[in-house]
Amino acid sequence: MTDPLFDLSGRIAVVTGGLGQMGALYTAGLAERGMRVAVFDVAAEAGADGDLVRRYPVDVTDRASIEDATNAVIADWGVPHLLVNNAALDSPPDAPPEEVGPFESYPESSFDAVMDVNVKGVLLCCQVIGGHMAEAGRGSIVNVSSIYGLLSPQQDVYEFRRGGGETFFKPVAYSVSKSALLNLTRYLATYWAKSGVRVNTLTLGGIFAEQPKEFLDAYGARVPLGRMANPEEALGAVVFLASEASSYVTGANLVVDGGWSAW
Ligand SMILES: NC(=O)c1ccc[n+]([C@@H]2O[C@H](COP(=O)([O-])OP(=O)(O)OC[C@H]3O[C@@H](n4cnc5c(N)ncnc54)[C@H](O)[C@@H]3O)[C@@H](O)[C@H]2O)c1
Repeated sequence: MTDPLFDLSGRIAVVTGGLGQMGALYTAGLAERGMRVAVFDVAAEAGADGDLVRRYPVDVTDRASIEDATNAVIADWGVPHLLVNNAALDSPPDAPPEEVGPFESYPESSFDAVMDVNVKGVLLCCQVIGGHMAEAGRGSIVNVSSIYGLLSPQQDVYEFRRGGGETFFKPVAYSVSKSALLNLTRYLATYWAKSGVRVNTLTLGGIFAEQPKEFLDAYGARVPLGRMANPEEALGAVVFLASEASSYVTGANLVVDGGWSAW
């Protein structure tokens, strides 16, 4: 039996960053539930994966590229019902030392690059795709944030990175960019309330991705559920926010963090 509360079949989604760890999981999970999913990713080659998934090379910092892909989605499928603003830059494991060094010398260029994708990219996707949703009188937008947008990173979980005497701080730009989304969500939830577009934040804790054991142990010791999230544990929240089950939920922050922020 399909539960009408959670029924997404025949609806249209855009998942930004849909080629990444979490974006690929949302794309597959939404398509399994009958959604047609447009993947907008800067690393994508245009193409299709079966009938339900199409890939578009989109740089979310470039409004023209978002508009072109959105127009193609609308022409082929119609106005999206769901936008998951998932594309983001974090500092990769091979980040140059100054990017994970002291706050005082964190590079301005890194700050700009992270804010550009993580904040302006979300704003532009909301402008373009959310604008079409508002005209259509319905839609749901999920802005993906992080526990590091709610709270400061706990720098001691990265102790394993300092074994050889190197400096390592989880950098500031990611945190600042992710907390900006909390109020972009609230702003747009009220702005579009009468247009039938709901806007929510999904705040995720750390997701398991074969991190080194020292990190997994340090992280697990600091979270009530004692472990990182498995990637598929974020999908239920996206399905909920996409579906009728959340028809009275807007401007909210759904925290999926194993209790990290509870103590
Ligand atoms: N993985 C985690 O532990 C974790 C924890 C909390 C929150 N999150 C959030 O979940 C989301 C996804 O994280 P992930 O770990 O899957 O990341 P990821 O690095 O695996 O994927 C990010 C994707 O975004 C794409 N991208 C980057 N810049 C882009 C641009 N300018 N335009 C379009 N696409 C672009 C990349 O090509 C990539 O496919 C992010 O918003 C992240 O902040 C992740």
